[in-house]
Amino acid sequence: MNIAILPGDGIGPEIVAEAVRVLDVLELPFNTDSALVGGAAYEAHGHPLPQATLKLAQDADAVLFGAVGDWKFDTLERSLRPEQAILGLRKHLQLFANFRPAICYPQLTHASSLKPELIGGLDILIVRELTGDIYFGQPRGRRESPDGAFKGHPEAFDTMRYSRPEIERIAHVAFQAARKRSKRVTSVDKANVLETFQFWRDVMTEVHAEYPDIELDHMYVDNAAMQLVKAPKKFDVLVTGNMFGDILSDEAAMLTGSIGMLPSASLNSENRGLYEPSHGSAPDIAGKNIANPLATILSLAMMLRFSLNQAEAALRVEAAVVKVLEAGLRTADIWSEGTQRVGTREMGSAVVAALKAA
Ligand code: IPM
Ligand code: MG
Repeated sequence: MNIAILPGDGIGPEIVAEAVRVLDVLELPFNTDSALVGGAAYEAHGHPLPQATLKLAQDADAVLFGAVGDWKFDTLERSLRPEQAILGLRKHLQLFANFRPAICYPQLTHASSLKPELIGGLDILIVRELTGDIYFGQPRGRRESPDGAFKGHPEAFDTMRYSRPEIERIAHVAFQAARKRSKRVTSVDKANVLETFQFWRDVMTEVHAEYPDIELDHMYVDNAAMQLVKAPKKFDVLVTGNMFGDILSDEAAMLTGSIGMLPSASLNSENRGLYEPSHGSAPDIAGKNIANPLATILSLAMMLRFSLNQAEAALRVEAAVVKVLEAGLRTADIWSEGTQRVGTREMGSAVVAALKAA
């Protein structure tokens, strides 16, 4: 089996390097091959998603992805910006199902900005639709000016759309995920204002008829944003569109203590997938050895489980992460009084050591 390693920009290379060390120590029979992506690929090859990078990802059984983006590319025309690389990969590989589990590790209950009793024991799963919605609305309806600026333009717009099959397949994914958990799904929409999301609600309800064992409720996105900080444990599986899922998953990440803890899996219908931390490239802290590599290491665990049929190795990695947290090791983002602050590299080394010791 082949794993494509795409570190990307900002803190991407540092955190992916730690996940690769963890992968190496598992001594599994996988080949790895890496390529540039995002701003790094633009600088070297003039495009954020060069053909060779796309091909490597397409031919791989799984992709381990860091992050893309840097403010220095903000003035490029949109089609050349680093973000187009991840959007292009999602689209080309048809990675429509994005899993973003938000789990609050008991050791981190005090690292969150929320009260410990609100988040202690939290374990929710956000299922975000990833290849439709306003992110991929056609036509884009917006003219790209050569210098990337909108000076003098009278308007700009994006189109929000979903097709029935797109909603149906993500609905099935959410209901099936709920079957393995507490059998409850909350579908988040904005049906009170948007046609696209009234359609979403209707199709969700139709598909739900095939899952009589699962409880479905619908919630407007503004209310969901509030409920997530008011009583997050009331949720179990939360399914929503691309845009709302982007926003709510960042919010949910903070319930776990830090966005540096939130892994993700983006899967196609054959469970081939791309695995990336839910956080971004954080160029402001790049190269300083302070980024938290755990979201990437936990994304690697998801990869082992979902795409590489290595559930046991996944459990070993997750147990090693718990062990270093129990030992009191913390990167800056999850540090609190009485714990030991470590850097990116040290955190990776600790996970590797825990794996070797197990
Ligand atoms: C994410 C990111 C991406 C998104 C960006 C980098 C395009 O915020 O994965 O959540 O908006 O989907
Ligand atoms: Mg996001």
